[in-house]
Order: sequence, then C-alpha cells, then structure tokens
Amino acid sequence: MRAMNMFRDLSAVADLIELCFASTMDNDGQRYVNDMRRASRDDGFLRWASNMTENASMPMTGYVWEEDGRIVGNASLIPFRDQGRRIYLIANIAVHPEYRRRGIARILTQRAMKYGWDKKASALWLHVRDDNPGAIELYQQLGFKEITRRATWVAKTDPPSLPDSDIQIVPRHPRFWLQQQDWLRRLHPDVLGWYRSFNLNSLRPGLMNWLYLLFVDVNIKQWAAICGDRLLATLSWAPRGGRSDSLFAATGIGTDEGGETSAEALALLLIHARRTLPNRSTLSLEYPAGEMTEAFLAAGFTERRTLIWMRAQPATRNDPLRK
Ligand SMILES: CC(C)(COP(=O)(O)OP(=O)(O)OC[C@H]1O[C@@H](n2cnc3c(N)ncnc32)[C@H](O)[C@@H]1OP(=O)(O)O)[C@@H](O)C(=O)NCCC(=O)NCCS
Repeated sequence: MRAMNMFRDLSAVADLIELCFASTMDNDGQRYVNDMRRASRDDGFLRWASNMTENASMPMTGYVWEEDGRIVGNASLIPFRDQGRRIYLIANIAVHPEYRRRGIARILTQRAMKYGWDKKASALWLHVRDDNPGAIELYQQLGFKEITRRATWVAKTDPPSLPDSDIQIVPRHPRFWLQQQDWLRRLHPDVLGWYRSFNLNSLRPGLMNWLYLLFVDVNIKQWAAICGDRLLATLSWAPRGGRSDSLFAATGIGTDEGGETSAEALALLLIHARRTLPNRSTLSLEYPAGEMTEAFLAAGFTERRTLIWMRAQPATRNDPLRK
C-alpha cells in the first residue's frame, strides 16, 4: 500500500474503478471516470491540482494497493467543509476481483481513515449501495454508522397522461414557502448539507433571491399541488448544467391519514413537470428511501439505486492503525 501519486496513478485508478463498478455504473459515474482519464492526460491540470489536494473534488488524495507493479486496490479521500469543520468523503473503495477477500479494502479504508483523523476531521463519511452487503459489513466493522438512506428515482419512459383529480397544479405561491421549507428540511437533512451542491434557499421567494437567480442565470420553475386552499406538495426544478438531480419534491410524510393525498399530489406534480419541462427526456430526483414509492411509480419513475450514507466520528473511531 502507498499514497496515490496523481501524476502517475490517476489513469490506472480510473481503469480499476471502471472495472470494479461496471455492473452499477450510471452516466454520472461514467462521466466521473472519463473526467479522471482526461485529467490524467493534462499536465497543467495535474500541476494545479497537486497544490489543491485539500480542495479539489477529484480524488487527488488517497491510497492504492500494488501487486507486481499493478494497481489492484484504491481508496480516495475527498475533502469537504461543514460550517468551517473539515470532513472527508471516503470514496472509490475498489479491489480488483482477483485480489478480493484478502483484507486489502479493510487496510486501505483504515489508512484513509487515519489520514482523516490526522487532519483533525470532525467526521468521515462514505456512501454505499444498499445491495452491497459485503461493503456495508466492512464499513460497520470499521466504526461507520448508518445515518440516512436516499433513493434516486429516474424518469426514462414517456410521461403518463395527467389523470383527472380534485387536486390542482398551480405555480408555487410565496405564501407556501414556510410549509415547503419545513418539508424540504426533513427531506434534505442538514446532516448532508455539506455534500449538496444546490442551496435549497434558492427556492425561497422574495426579491433578493429573484435578483440573485437572475444574476447567476438560473431559471428555477416551481409548482404546488393544492386541494381547495390546502397545500399538499410542491415540486421545484432547477437546470443543473448536465447533472441530473434537478427536481426537488416536498410533501408531508406519506404514511399518515393524508398520505394517499400527498402521494397523489406528488405524482400529479411529477407528471406535470415531465409533460411541461422543455427538452427533458430524463429527469431524476433524490428522496428518502422507502417514501412515496407509489407516487414515483405512478409518474413513470424507476428506482435507480438506494445509497446508505454512513458516518464515523472521532468518538466512534475504531481504527487500529491510529496511535
Ligand atoms: C467491496 C470490496 C471493496 C471489498 O474488497 P476486499 O478487499 O475483498 O475486502 P476485504 O478483504 O478487506 O474484506 C474485509 C471484510 O469485509 C467483508 N466483506 C468484503 N467483501 C465481502 C463480500 N463479498 N461478501 C461478504 N462480506 C464481505 C467481510 O467481513 C470481510 O472480512 P472477511 O473476509 O474476514 O470475512 C470489493 O469487493 C470491491 O471492489 N467491490 C466492487 C466495488 C465496491 O462495491 N466497492 C464498495 C463501494 S462503497
């Protein structure tokens, strides 16, 4: 095991990630691997990035495992800030299929954790698909605890037609904001705020925000589903320049008495968005796993994956490499 050398290793690490994640890699993942390859060929970028290892989102810091001169294992560290505190996302843990179950991933992850603790991180995070029990087991053994599960829903087929309903779809009115904000706070918990690239406050009504959005040239569209004067759900769309998670749905918990109506309202909003947004053949959004499933299915979405977000904190660390 040794520290990754981005001048030499980036391309081999990209190959390893592509091989190890082949069965689950989506377009975003493929773009990420391609970006790594492109970066590996760009000396100027690498020189710049080598001075930026604590700030870049590319995996510039990390550890690799070599056998006979060939990289067969990897663990990357991606730095983030959470209200001034340092956080690392440990990512791209991958071991070549021929070298598995020899403890390589465990040692690489432990080494990455030690790096984080040495840098005085307030927390280490990682995410893992819920259908990857081997990796989940490994991370639990190393002291990571599940914090939240989030499903990614994607729309691929043609949108269904809008069914008849007493629920009306209207533009999001400023008076809906307090309720919408309450829902958004539960559905997009602050604990993951450091990772979100979209500031949910951009959905807030008001002149200042409107001017800001005009300035940054982001054209957000928002709708509300109402029944009489009762707000049931909201949906917001922001173009994200190629990234697909541009829908933000908000509604109450779907399991109470009003659950059916919330789900119906959300489904109508999603269908409406799919039918009215320009040139959107695919749309996707994140939502807490297991919630509003029927609404997403009714609007023609399918579940792409569920990620378990896990966190280790200094108090829970269980890292034998640490003195
Ligand atoms: C997950 C992965 C990194 C594990 O690499 P590895 O080097 O084989 O893992 P280790 O040998 O260090 O395993 C350590 C422990 O994790 C658990 N574990 C790892 N892989 C497992 C599997 N396939 N099934 C069950 N448990 C597993 C076991 O508890 C294991 O200890 P044991 O071998 O003493 O039982 C590797 O299988 C891989 O690259 N998978 C594809 C990419 C991936 O899913 N990465 C994780 C993304 S979050």
